[in-house]
Amino acid sequence: MMITVSRKAHFNAAHRLFRSDWSDDKNEAVFGKCNNPNFHGHNYELIVSVTGNIDPETGFVIDMKVLKDLIKSNIENAFDHKNLNKEVAEFKELNPTAENIAVVIWNKLRPHIDDSKKLEVTLYETPRNFVSYRGA
Ligand code: NI
Repeated sequence: MMITVSRKAHFNAAHRLFRSDWSDDKNEAVFGKCNNPNFHGHNYELIVSVTGNIDPETGFVIDMKVLKDLIKSNIENAFDHKNLNKEVAEFKELNPTAENIAVVIWNKLRPHIDDSKKLEVTLYETPRNFVSYRGA
């Protein structure tokens, strides 16, 4: 019997979406306000979901304290109050779109969660815009 448990987390971060190999006009046309050269911030809401069997001894899929600490140490400490383009290595050459941030988060968490369990990451960039990633 597979069941899914989820933990919500939060971080604030700044970003800019642009490609240095595109003209200013093309960056403006494609990325709009998110191309602001002076960066801008978002209040990101993160939902990390783990799917697996219930451990018969504990009654848990995963200990929520463990999941909370994984998110804190790997994601919040790395991203919160950071400029993603300038301060987070993964985005030096990668546009920090919600899609790419979700994939980076998934890749950072996956090694810490048992292979028998499935991992899904949902990232809200705004209350209305969100993306989900559950691995390739
Ligand atoms: Ni933005």
